[in-house]
Amino acid sequence: MTQSRTRISKAVIPAAGLGTRFLPATKATPKEMLPVVDKPAIQYVVEEAVTAGLSDVLMITGRNKRPLEDHFDRNYELEEALTRKGDETRLARVQESSDLATMHYVRQGDPKGLGHAVLCAAPHVGDQPFAVLLGDDLIDARDPLLARMVDIQERHGGSVIALMEVDPAQVHLYGCAAVKPTVDDDVVQVTGLVEKPDPADAPSNYAVIGRYVLDPAIFGVLRETEPGRGGEIQLTDALQALASSPDLGGPVHGVVFKGRRYDTGDRGDYLRAIVRLACEREDLGPEFRDWLRSYVTEEM
Ligand code: G1P
Repeated sequence: MTQSRTRISKAVIPAAGLGTRFLPATKATPKEMLPVVDKPAIQYVVEEAVTAGLSDVLMITGRNKRPLEDHFDRNYELEEALTRKGDETRLARVQESSDLATMHYVRQGDPKGLGHAVLCAAPHVGDQPFAVLLGDDLIDARDPLLARMVDIQERHGGSVIALMEVDPAQVHLYGCAAVKPTVDDDVVQVTGLVEKPDPADAPSNYAVIGRYVLDPAIFGVLRETEPGRGGEIQLTDALQALASSPDLGGPVHGVVFKGRRYDTGDRGDYLRAIVRLACEREDLGPEFRDWLRSYVTEEM
């Protein structure tokens, strides 16, 4: 078992997916760049990593993902134009994303699945535990999850996944965990995992959501993992190997999340995220809420 001595500092964000659910918007624009109110979805995810103390971010990208690199880089022309206009507010907003974290990029090449994407991070991560954040899952900044997962990893070693109880009819959309309770109400020990099971075969209604803190032993396991569901190398299958043989890389624990999560990979949930976050914004909220109230009463 690899036990961390230094604090976990590296986050990996797989962002090579094609975003077909949002076509035609994602024909020439990465899905990660779609705005949630006025920030690209991916910026919320990077901000979440940084808030949890992970300021070294590796993005696993692919073809057509250059806008991601540009977004987290300086834009001198724009900065100069805004400086000339004396528009300090917007200048700060432009600089925010380039000052956020130390960004690194690696291309996945073949789209062989989430497990394969994570394996692409091996040379950068080395032999320390690290976090993985999936870009489609947006965790509300007021309901911190990742920091708790990092704490649990530091306490128990091994790997930590994020779980959420879902309607059993929804389990087939997620990785699903068999669990045992621990002394902490919000922490379970994971004894087994299955990727997107049929509801009849699901071991529980604990769904895996897109946050992981992983022992680097996952890389060795991923190298041996055969393609699974959908012909892809599944991260869930590698975690199942760790959960069933703790000698490989320590135990697998789950932190049960009860906060607000939006699946920005789903069009309906994406719209709900925008409406909720816009309503709660100090600058836009009051006017938008008034409009929404009258829209709902008068037109629906
Ligand atoms: C991935 C994982 C799955 C997990 C889900 C969370 O699936 O493979 O285990 O439950 O993310 O969002 P995807 O949604 O990429 O198909």
